[in-house]
Amino acid sequence: MERPAWAPRSIDISVPSVSRIYDYYLGGSHNFEVDREAARRAMEFLPGLPKISQANRAFMRRAVRYAVAEGVTQFLDIGSGIPTFGSAHEVARAASPAARVVYVDHDPVAVAHSEAVLADNDDADVVAADLCKPQEILHSLQVTRLIDLDRPVALLLVAVLHFVEDADDPYAAVAELGAALAPGSLLVLTHASYEGIPMPTERAEGAVDVYKDIRNPLIMRSRDEIGRFFEGYDMVEPGLVPMPRWRPDTAPEDEDPWALSGFAGVGRRP
Ligand SMILES: C[S@@+](CC[C@H](N)C(=O)[O-])C[C@H]1O[C@@H](n2cnc3c(N)ncnc32)[C@H](O)[C@@H]1O
Repeated sequence: MERPAWAPRSIDISVPSVSRIYDYYLGGSHNFEVDREAARRAMEFLPGLPKISQANRAFMRRAVRYAVAEGVTQFLDIGSGIPTFGSAHEVARAASPAARVVYVDHDPVAVAHSEAVLADNDDADVVAADLCKPQEILHSLQVTRLIDLDRPVALLLVAVLHFVEDADDPYAAVAELGAALAPGSLLVLTHASYEGIPMPTERAEGAVDVYKDIRNPLIMRSRDEIGRFFEGYDMVEPGLVPMPRWRPDTAPEDEDPWALSGFAGVGRRP
């Protein structure tokens, strides 16, 4: 298999990756046949995965604009993925020239591509780190340079926590990150769930098995379990809801039932 210029030498391009599979769902071009094959297998069970991914991105953009409107212009986007059109830094900068963004991902392709996209950008950077090691993120050169932790930050954990197993204690990681944030900071989060999926759970489990097979388990959590990530935050209206229902720009017409899978919410640190 030929290695394109954007694929770092260090990665094994015969093994599928979550960020490249997601890039494929979104119609991006940073994926290999091995990723497309895994994506197509998952879509045999959950054909709505591209719709779910689009609804997730659309929520992320609305939440970034909401944060800026609330005066929060610093963004820490963990599990940021491969930047495709309309990434957090583009949306944030369009809303405020003062916006600063640090992306964090543990996937080398996501990091390499973010570095390339941000090469001429002084107000955004990327850290290669794991969500489960909050201190590495918080003390990174990039966060130290761009983010003032004494002022409110929007912490984006969008479509990432469902890749962290309970054994790795995602609740502790989120609490540790939150403890470092100033009052007025926002937690912006989406998470996959069997709740809301317009098909029987047993069938959707086939897609979960595909992720297990590629050693990146997808952890479906209930609405209550997802709500626990917001402990210590006041929920912003309308609370934890299906993604298209979080402050839609326009009244939904002909809402795709797949887009209602999973949950989105924003919390504010008192
Ligand atoms: C589905 S993508 C979401 C991308 C982006 N946040 C969005 O919603 O459009 C999930 C991303 O989380 C990253 N990821 C998964 N587990 C992670 C972890 N423990 N630490 C850092 N990044 C992680 C993956 O590499 C992938 O790029």
